[in-house]
Amino acid sequence: MKIRTLFLGLIAAGLSATAVAADPIVIKFSHVVAQDTPKGKAAEKFKELAEKYTSGAVKVEVYANSTLYKDKEEMEALQLGAVQLLAPSLAKFGPLGVREFEVFDLPYIFDGYEALNKVTQGPVGAQLLAKLEPKGIKGLAFWDNGFKSFSANTPIKKPEDLRGKKMRIQSSKVLEEQMREVKSLPQVMAFSEVYQALQTGVVDGTENPHSNLFTQKMHEVQKHMTLTDHGYLGYAVITNKKFWDGLPAEVRTQLDKAMVESTAYANQIAKEENDKALAGVRASGKTEVYTPTAEEKAAFKKALVPVHKKMESRIGAELIQSIYKETGFDPAKL
Ligand code: LMR
Repeated sequence: MKIRTLFLGLIAAGLSATAVAADPIVIKFSHVVAQDTPKGKAAEKFKELAEKYTSGAVKVEVYANSTLYKDKEEMEALQLGAVQLLAPSLAKFGPLGVREFEVFDLPYIFDGYEALNKVTQGPVGAQLLAKLEPKGIKGLAFWDNGFKSFSANTPIKKPEDLRGKKMRIQSSKVLEEQMREVKSLPQVMAFSEVYQALQTGVVDGTENPHSNLFTQKMHEVQKHMTLTDHGYLGYAVITNKKFWDGLPAEVRTQLDKAMVESTAYANQIAKEENDKALAGVRASGKTEVYTPTAEEKAAFKKALVPVHKKMESRIGAELIQSIYKETGFDPAKL
């Protein structure tokens, strides 16, 4: 401990880490997507910056693709202190007892990244992160991914085309309601199991931003995909509060800086990565990508927006209204 204190003192004094030897503080960062995604790349960026800014006093080990933990286990592991950083999708906080995060799953609530960022990078976002503290979790940032498309093995041009289909969803009650609204059968499933479930017909279809679909090769087992943009999928970067608060102040300052910069990076590359992935899906020739007409998109909106009202008692009418206020969304205008 004395050596570490000395070591940190040397860092604070601007000395090179190679000049001294001490055990670094290890931060395990676990996530479930491929490395070549907005979240995967941002996690690597955080590692690079955190190690650089602390001159090696911190070592970040990134475990991608559910290699360390799957969806449900990773939340438990964070609370137990077995892993120090996660970036779960906002749809996965309900089981933790923080239902408000499911507001991000409401269909069509965000018209694009600009509207979304008003919420995630503004006061509403900060209030949401603060709700994690009583659970022993500290919310550090929001990282973007993108807007979801429906996919299946038959064409999806109208809401009725989803009727009766078994659709994989993340563990969110809002997503469950969304699928019920179009009379499909929602199946909650860990991300790591989706490819196989689609391949073997355990489920018929799913919803994803393009980067997730493409990097998990789901397009190889889904013949049709429709650019509905019907919902958002993004992340909250979280840590174990006790761990974070227990870090030496100078280390935490450097990690905060690394987090701010990797957040800017994540949110800058998200759209580009999703556009690239969509181009990859198209080029593969395995999935027919359908762009709905304005009328068809309006029909999806009309069918799905009633989910907002139905989920009011779960998420909180006030929170939903505060998001409408930030983004200008008006359900009455559909
Ligand atoms: C999913 O389960 O579909 C996503 O939450 C995966 C992810 O982390 O993007």
